[in-house]
Amino acid sequence: MRKLILTALVAAGLIGAAGAAQASEGGAPLIKMPHSWDGVFGRYNKAQLKRGFQVFHDVCSNCHTLRLVAYRNLSEVGLTPDEIKVVAAEREIPDAPNDEGVVVNRPGRASDKYIGPFPNEKAAAAANGGALPPDLSLINKARVSGPDYVYSLMMGYEDVAPEGHPIPEGKFYNKFFPGNAISMPPQVMDDLVTYADGTKATKEQLSADIVAFLNWAAEPELDQRKGMGLYVMLFLGVLTALFYALKRQIWADVH
Ligand code: HEC
Repeated sequence: MRKLILTALVAAGLIGAAGAAQASEGGAPLIKMPHSWDGVFGRYNKAQLKRGFQVFHDVCSNCHTLRLVAYRNLSEVGLTPDEIKVVAAEREIPDAPNDEGVVVNRPGRASDKYIGPFPNEKAAAAANGGALPPDLSLINKARVSGPDYVYSLMMGYEDVAPEGHPIPEGKFYNKFFPGNAISMPPQVMDDLVTYADGTKATKEQLSADIVAFLNWAAEPELDQRKGMGLYVMLFLGVLTALFYALKRQIWADVH
């Protein structure tokens, strides 16, 4: 029994250690934030997802793609069918060749994947000093401690690089980015957008909201998955109780 308790303690210690502050590749320890979707009972906050979409739409989508998200899926972050149509039609993509074999552009539709701001990756890189803005669909999964990293990255710019960190022309100092010189200019500042729901758009709020939206983009099924998990646990609990009662009944006469 003592051995069992010891093992349990060691395991708990290991799990705890894995959750300890993580230094980013840029050197600074990441800023840790609680998220509405953390833990067994955690779920996305719908109002936050919608705000996060507004930040993506108004700011990030001017440089970044979001290739895995179809416009119609934006209903899950609270956009109405009409709003979705409007957002989709803001950009154009090449249509199928017409009867003369000529390709013309058409406005986006709800069934299209989110259309990027540039016609191709070369154009995207060329417009950004040679650095390609990565697709953001899976960014929260693609980076270690993704949500904390993206939040920290948004907050990690400093106007003046510290001594001994020369920053090349056209790059910016960010204490969380590997190598500290990033081609993306600072993105969030207070009141950058006016939130439709009246939430005060501080730098911190904008960063937290875009991180929530990007987490939804990478893991849209999280709410259903956790709901199902709880249901299964409940089911197993009831089943265990039933079997235990049954066992007692069967053995009652034997004792
Ligand atoms: C003006 C163009 C521009 C805008 C607007 C922009 N980005 Fe970027 N972003 C870039 C570029 C360029 C890179 C590549 C940086 C590099 O490799 O040095 C980048 C890289 C990134 C990365 C990856 C960093 C890494 O570890 O590789 C993330 C995450 C990111 N951007 C998030 C955002 C978010 C969130 C927004 C909106 C709030 C946003 N960006 C808006 C240009 C932009």
